[in-house]
Amino acid sequence: MACFSCPTRTVVVVLISLLFMISTSLIDVSASNFYQDFDITWGDGRAKVLNDGELLTLSIDKASGSGFQSKNEYLFGKIDMQLKLVPGNSAGTVTAYYLSSQGSTHDEIDFEFLGNLSGDPYIVHTNVFTQGKGSREQQFYLWFDPTADFHTYSVLWNPQTIIFYVDGTPIRVFKNSESQGVPYPKNQPMRVYASLWNADDWATRGGLVKTDWTKAPFTAAFRNFTATACVWSAGKSSCSSTNSNSTKNSWLWQELDSASQARLKWVQNNYMVYNYCTDTKRFPQGLPPECTLINS
Ligand SMILES: *[C@@H]1O[C@H](CO)[C@@H](O)[C@H](O)[C@H]1NC(C)=O
Ligand SMILES: *[C@@H]1O[C@H](CO)[C@@H](O)[C@H](O)[C@H]1NC(C)=O
Ligand SMILES: *[C@@H]1O[C@H](CO)[C@@H](O)[C@H](O)[C@H]1NC(C)=O
Repeated sequence: MACFSCPTRTVVVVLISLLFMISTSLIDVSASNFYQDFDITWGDGRAKVLNDGELLTLSIDKASGSGFQSKNEYLFGKIDMQLKLVPGNSAGTVTAYYLSSQGSTHDEIDFEFLGNLSGDPYIVHTNVFTQGKGSREQQFYLWFDPTADFHTYSVLWNPQTIIFYVDGTPIRVFKNSESQGVPYPKNQPMRVYASLWNADDWATRGGLVKTDWTKAPFTAAFRNFTATACVWSAGKSSCSSTNSNSTKNSWLWQELDSASQARLKWVQNNYMVYNYCTDTKRFPQGLPPECTLINS
């Protein structure tokens, strides 16, 4: 397709990236320790840090779920966490693992794992909020049983793109479409959050299957959190110092190479359950602007 504004746009993106790189460098790579990196925020004892801080478990029963949040706020980062989801009959439960800023115009990058009856597949529900507005859901099945072992779920968030990964395989890309008038998360620092909560009004088969509380408590486990990220502290990013090392910072301008794009296509062709970008019934006025070409 002919696109006369594209060369200009590419130059602008490259210039912005260069400026950002020059001002950017000291990246915080933190090793995994839940005592050091996270606070348990709710659940009255249902969230537990175990094995000297290596493992964190969240539980839910009829009275309450539970959750935790990172001590640090980040403005851009590559965030990895390993999760082992609620086994057996997990219908109605949602394990959420997401990045979010504060306030009514917040930005948010979500992974939510919708439980199911024993033997029926989980759905990985993803969403991106910018300036308080979401409604950008994409859902996927997984190509393995996420309750049998730990798997790595990652978010790459840099000025150009947000990429969701499962075990290093990209499942979703949300590109910076500011040139199409779509706000992009780039000014509000975010924390990492996780929670286990009940949503049996919608989560499993659209709410038809309810939680079986006789099987409670339900438990999900987290380990090996890794943040290769710019830490935000006292109004400043750890990436604004001038101590540069380009190899370490490569995640800041990373995009999908052609091999990763092929894997993304494989996931989208074989495991995608729902894509807001193709839901013309939901958007009779026209699909959201970011859905044209680049994110669909
Ligand atoms: C649960 O299993 C049913 C039947 O296989 C499937 O239609 C549904 O997408 C699965 N996941 C959820 C979260 O409902
Ligand atoms: C922990 O996470 C890092 C970064 O994702 C990964 O390289 C490493 O293999 C993980 N360790 C284990 C034990 O899985
Ligand atoms: C930059 O980072 C890489 C990988 O972390 C390391 O091997 C290299 O020695 C570093 N170079 C400088 C100049 O610090």
